[in-house]
Amino acid sequence: MKKIALLTSGGDSPGMNPCIRAIVRKAIWEKLEVVGIRRGFAGLMVGDFVNLKASSVSGIIHQGGTILKTARSPLFKTEEGQIKALENLKRFNIEGLIVIGGDGSLRGAYALNKRGIPTIGIPASIDNDIPGSDFSIGFFTAINTALEAIDKIRDTATSHERLFIIEVMGRTSGFIALWAGLAGGAEDIFIPEKTLNLEEVCQRLEEGRRRGKTSSIIVTAEGDRSGRAFQIGEEIKKRVNYEVRVIVLGHIQRGGSPVALDRIISSRLGVAAVDALIKGERGKMVGICCEGIKIIPLQIIWKERKKINLDLYNLNQILAT
Ligand code: ADP
Ligand code: F6P
Repeated sequence: MKKIALLTSGGDSPGMNPCIRAIVRKAIWEKLEVVGIRRGFAGLMVGDFVNLKASSVSGIIHQGGTILKTARSPLFKTEEGQIKALENLKRFNIEGLIVIGGDGSLRGAYALNKRGIPTIGIPASIDNDIPGSDFSIGFFTAINTALEAIDKIRDTATSHERLFIIEVMGRTSGFIALWAGLAGGAEDIFIPEKTLNLEEVCQRLEEGRRRGKTSSIIVTAEGDRSGRAFQIGEEIKKRVNYEVRVIVLGHIQRGGSPVALDRIISSRLGVAAVDALIKGERGKMVGICCEGIKIIPLQIIWKERKKINLDLYNLNQILAT
C-alpha cells in the first residue's frame, strides 16, 4: 500500500482534527502518501482532494470542527454516487480509505468497502451512539460543554427559584443527557432508553420542594419519547408549583476545543486505523473497548444498538433526592 485517503463526514465532532493529525502523521511515519478528501462523501464524488504533509496538520490538535470540512450527502447513498466516488479514488491511485464519522458515515464506509476499496471506519459523533466502541470521538467534549451550560443555568435557577428544562442533543440516544445530567446533579433526566411517568416525575419535584429545594433542573434528550423540551415543559407546568423555563442547547454542543480524553481517543484511533489498513484489515471499524483498541466488522453498526448504562440513571435518582 502506497497511498491512502481520509475524510470526515456527517455531524462534526470535537476531536476530528486531532484524529486527522494522527492519521496523517502515522501514514507519513509508515512512508505512505496521504490525501485528504474535503467535504466528506460529497467531496469524494467530485474529486475534491488535497495532498497532506506533516505540516498540513500543524496547530490543529486543539481545534474543534474539521479542517477537511464535512457534509451530509443524499446522492452518496445511491449507486450512481458510489460509482462516482470509486472512480475518483481509482483516478488518484488511492489504495485505502479511512472514514471518520457517525453511524451514517460508517454505513457509507461499508458501502465503499463492498465496492472494492479497502476501508476502515473511525467512530466520531457527539451522540456516542455507535456500537462497538465504548466512546466515540467528541462525546466527552460535548458533555463538558453541556455541563458548563447546566452549571450556569443552575446559578440563575437558584437565584430565581425556578425549574429549568434543558434539552441536549443525541439524536435517538440519551448518552449526552444521561452523562451531563448526572454530572450536573439534575433532579431528573429524560432519555429515549427509559420511559418516565410524568406524574411521578412531578411528584418527585414536589417532594423535593417539601424537603426544602427551591429550584430544580431537568435534562432532556432531544429524542426522548415524551417529546421535545418545550412540550415536556408545558406538561410539567400544569402539574408543579414552579416557575418553568425551557432552554435548548443546540449546536454549541458540537463545537469547542476537544478535551484531553477526546484528543487521546482520536489520536489512538487514528493511528490504529492506519495500522489496520497496512495489516490488510478491510470493512472494519476501530473502537475503544476497556481502554484497549478493538477492530470490529462495520456491520455491527446496524446489527446492534449501543446499550446505555441505566445504572447511571438509578444512581442519579439516589443522588437527586
Ligand atoms: P453521521 O455520520 O453523523 O451519522 P449521517 O447519518 O448524516 O451522519 O450520514 C452522513 C453521510 O453518510 C450521509 O449524508 C450519506 O452520504 C452517508 N450515508 C448515510 N447512510 C448511508 C448508507 N446507508 N449507505 C451509504 N451511505 C450512507
Ligand atoms: O449526530 C450529531 C447531531 O449533532 C445530533 O445530536 C443532532 O440530532 C444532529 O446531529 C443535528 O444535525 P444538523 O447539524 O444537521 O442539524
